[in-house]
Amino acid sequence: MLDERTIQIIKSTAPIIKEHGEEITRCFYQRLFHRHPELLNYFNQANQRQGRQQQALANAVWAVAENIDQLEKVLPMVEGIAHKHRALGVKAEQYPIVGENLLIAIQKVLGLSPTDEIMKAWEQAYGVIAEVFIGKEAEMTAKAANQHGGWSGFREFIVQKKVQESSVIASFYLTPADHGALPTFQPGQYITLQMSIPGSPYTHNRHYSLSNGPDEAFWRISVKHEMGGEADPDGRVSTYLHEKVGEGDHLWLSAPAGNFVLEKSSSRPVVFLSAGVGLTPLLSMFSSLVLSHSSREIVWIHATQNGDVHALAKEVEKWGKGKENIKTYTFYENPTPIDRESKCFDYEGRIEVDHLRQLLPSTEVDVYLCGSVPFMRKMATDLKRIGVRNNQIHYEVFGPTAADIKEETEITHQ
Ligand SMILES: Cc1cc2nc3c(=O)[nH]c(=O)nc-3n(C[C@H](O)[C@H](O)[C@H](O)COP(=O)(O)OP(=O)(O)OC[C@H]3O[C@@H](n4cnc5c(N)ncnc54)[C@H](O)[C@@H]3O)c2cc1C
Ligand code: HEM
Repeated sequence: MLDERTIQIIKSTAPIIKEHGEEITRCFYQRLFHRHPELLNYFNQANQRQGRQQQALANAVWAVAENIDQLEKVLPMVEGIAHKHRALGVKAEQYPIVGENLLIAIQKVLGLSPTDEIMKAWEQAYGVIAEVFIGKEAEMTAKAANQHGGWSGFREFIVQKKVQESSVIASFYLTPADHGALPTFQPGQYITLQMSIPGSPYTHNRHYSLSNGPDEAFWRISVKHEMGGEADPDGRVSTYLHEKVGEGDHLWLSAPAGNFVLEKSSSRPVVFLSAGVGLTPLLSMFSSLVLSHSSREIVWIHATQNGDVHALAKEVEKWGKGKENIKTYTFYENPTPIDRESKCFDYEGRIEVDHLRQLLPSTEVDVYLCGSVPFMRKMATDLKRIGVRNNQIHYEVFGPTAADIKEETEITHQ
């Protein structure tokens, strides 16, 4: 427990930490990797270079500091991070290493002495925060390991089948190499791949949403080949998966994780709103609702460039076909002449606020949103503009969650 004085210091210095957040976290990561290069096996270096991980950590530290006397308020955020830590295999004994380097970074950037009262308060607060994470992650690790077919760490899987779903997305059908049971998972959850790439000194960890339902004899991930621009390299893991991994190859996976899951207790209509490869967790939710013979109204809205890059269209059609309660819509931003001829899309252009107004059955819906951050920001803004409340919108970011996209939008209907 923190005393009143410590809580007061943490809360009053939280805004300064926010202001210098990215400088502090940049300094922190530099120190951390210099002193503990073995931790490069855990962290995605592309996220580091783009500053996304620094921003995510800075936001989390600030949010926890501001709510240090009411941590229950930031529990959903803590749980989301703990899921990622658990999936990556973060260990309790690594917390003091992170703590020491984070505290020194705060001290250096703010120009404080190590014995300053502020530093003492932050040291104590870090201890409390670390305890919360360690406790949650231990719980999650035990749950993942103790379920039927469960395990801890990374388990070897075999690629049974690889299917090119579009010019940029390929699916990998996976079964355990030990032929043991598969645990169930909640539609919307992801697995984490631990990948060794020849010539690379560190392992690369990447999360992939399961794109099939939980009751099948295999798991499926559907991966977009991330191409670099003129100056940027191609994505490390997606390129390796697309170019080098095929049927019969082995992959190492951690047990499913994540709190972006279908709320089965709700009976409201469900709206699945995705762009590009963001359809993967939503397809898992969609198929599981159909297979459970749900009578909920379902609206599937997917946006992509054109038919060349449109993945899993036939599958969406299969789940939706002939069912009164299901409507599916496709938006192509730049349809090809073949798309026009085959009339394989419903709308040309992007999803705009008027489309949402027209296609949603009402504003009393549960919306599941996944795509690029700009896409989700626009959708969240438009949904709120037509009257959908904040707590009805659920979303997943395919990268470090830097800031709440719903809070960033200007309209709020609580
Ligand atoms: C919960 C979750 C679920 C996900 N589900 C899916 C899914 O179902 N399907 C899917 O395809 N992806 C999914 N992702 C994304 C996935 O985890 C990877 O981030 C993605 O595959 C890219 O990894 P990579 O190794 O290929 O690219 P990275 O090497 O990580 O690079 C990422 C991007 O950064 C660029 N880049 C790399 N280095 C630099 C640099 N020095 N400067 C500037 N730019 C650079 C690359 O060009 C690339 O576009 C998910 C992510 C999360 C968090
Ligand atoms: C209280 C201390 C910690 C806090 C507040 C914290 C916070 C965060 C946050 C906010 C993220 C981004 C989550 C997202 O992707 O949305 C993250 C990711 C991550 N954390 Fe932590 N973390 C802490 C401790 C640790 C420790 C001890 C380790 C062990 C090495 C660790 C390793 C990682 C890794 C590897 C990632 C994924 C980074 C990436 O590859 O993008 N964290 N953490």
